[in-house]
Amino acid sequence: MTIANPLHILGISGSLRRASYNTALLRAAVELMPPGMTLEVFDLAPLPMFNQDAERPFPKPVAEFRARVAQADALLIATPEYNSSISGVLKNAIDWASRPPQQPLKGKPVAIMGASTGNFGTVRAQLHLRQILTHVGALPLGKPEVLVARAEQAFDSAGNLTDATARGLLQELLVALGKWIALVAPPGGPRPM
Ligand SMILES: Cc1cc2nc3c(=O)[nH]c(=O)nc-3n(C[C@H](O)[C@H](O)[C@H](O)COP(=O)(O)O)c2cc1C
Repeated sequence: MTIANPLHILGISGSLRRASYNTALLRAAVELMPPGMTLEVFDLAPLPMFNQDAERPFPKPVAEFRARVAQADALLIATPEYNSSISGVLKNAIDWASRPPQQPLKGKPVAIMGASTGNFGTVRAQLHLRQILTHVGALPLGKPEVLVARAEQAFDSAGNLTDATARGLLQELLVALGKWIALVAPPGGPRPM
């Protein structure tokens, strides 16, 4: 069966590290995407540091990122945990996407996940991320929580997510995201808020 208009999800990783577990988590999500949904991973590396003097016009990579966020039916964010919060890379991207005129994060459904080598699997970073997303008017999905702790044991040396529990939770998250989009921001419906 082919689906005429699949839901389009934009995935971003808050880590620029070549062997990032969070970027690997996004690759696993591509693999586990339910029917009727597609995931495109957007690389945050080209985004410059936010500067309020550089908003008119936005730098080219920023304009591109903002347009991709605006076009997506939802975001899927893989966040690392740096010193009990999100990375500067991720905060920087959110700051750029939060700005007027279009404020593309406003009313945007967002699913959150994260992997860390620590014992708590980014739980503190995810709480901060929810707070930030709520402030910018995005609509973060509540559950399931995908917290991949001790990431070096959950992925193999090639960066494949091998932990069965984490794979199951990730699959549940993606299905829940599809339902969340239908509930809060169905394609073609009014833009919430
Ligand atoms: C600056 C810095 C701070 C970190 N702070 C935390 C932390 O607070 N909690 C945690 O679980 N891991 C922490 N870590 C370890 C990261 O979980 C680990 O480096 C992880 O691999 C980063 O994600 P990535 O693989 O996607 O790059 C920190 C790492 C760095 C570089």
